[in-house]
Amino acid sequence: MDLVLFGPPGAGKGTQAKFLVKSLGIPQISTGDMMRAERALGSELGARFDSFMSAGKLVPDELVLELMAKRLARDDAKAGAIFDGYPRTVQQAEALDALLASLDRKIDRVIALDVVLEDVVERITGRRVCLGCGQTYHVRYSPPPESGVCVSCQGTKIVQRSDDTEEVVRHRYTEYQEKTACLLDYYRGLGVVSEVDGRGGLDEVTQRIQQALEAR
Ligand code: AP5
Repeated sequence: MDLVLFGPPGAGKGTQAKFLVKSLGIPQISTGDMMRAERALGSELGARFDSFMSAGKLVPDELVLELMAKRLARDDAKAGAIFDGYPRTVQQAEALDALLASLDRKIDRVIALDVVLEDVVERITGRRVCLGCGQTYHVRYSPPPESGVCVSCQGTKIVQRSDDTEEVVRHRYTEYQEKTACLLDYYRGLGVVSEVDGRGGLDEVTQRIQQALEAR
């Protein structure tokens, strides 16, 4: 199955993708995570990503497509993938369709998570992330252990992402509304969208996604 997790920053895409990896047995492909990994290497490409990411702007399509083509060619993505934070423009969606078509595949489902701006700001500014494994916490809803040791990998670097300030998240949300939200119509046209209420607790949202997946 090839599934897109769609929604604004802080909708819960990354968090829910990790549950789906376990239930569907396919990998999570997050362009944001891939870009942060490249940035951490200190490469020239990573520096280019950073110039857009730290301002809350979308990275240009051609750079994203290159990343995705390499990632989809890896063995673990042969049976499908959960796309998290990708595609974000119609050009990216068309490029993904073409890439998948070359593998005899197509987007089977789009789970669109709906949350309001106040929730986005609260979730994002409270997020903390383990640098070792990407495990996500929230200072209020799923606080990092007091010991400072990550529950998933026992790493000790649990930090706030540099683009998780209120100012930058508001830019990210505007980018989403201006460039990404319209993609939903593209996918509605293909008849693959399930809209899921992304408000409420983590478990509630996980359950709604499972129900949406079983409903077809
Ligand atoms: P990216 O890393 O993709 O960030 P994003 O889309 O802005 O989404 P987030 O990761 O912030 O949110 P999420 O929906 O995954 O929420 P999460 O589950 O963590 O992109 C970052 C940047 O990279 C972009 O701005 C852009 O510059 C660039 N980029 C990436 N991909 C690109 C592309 N394809 N094209 C161009 N540029 C690209 O949850 C957030 C917090 O809320 C967590 O703390 C979590 O614990 C908490 N939470 C989640 N669900 C709940 C709940 N139900 N109740 C309470 N708390 C919850």
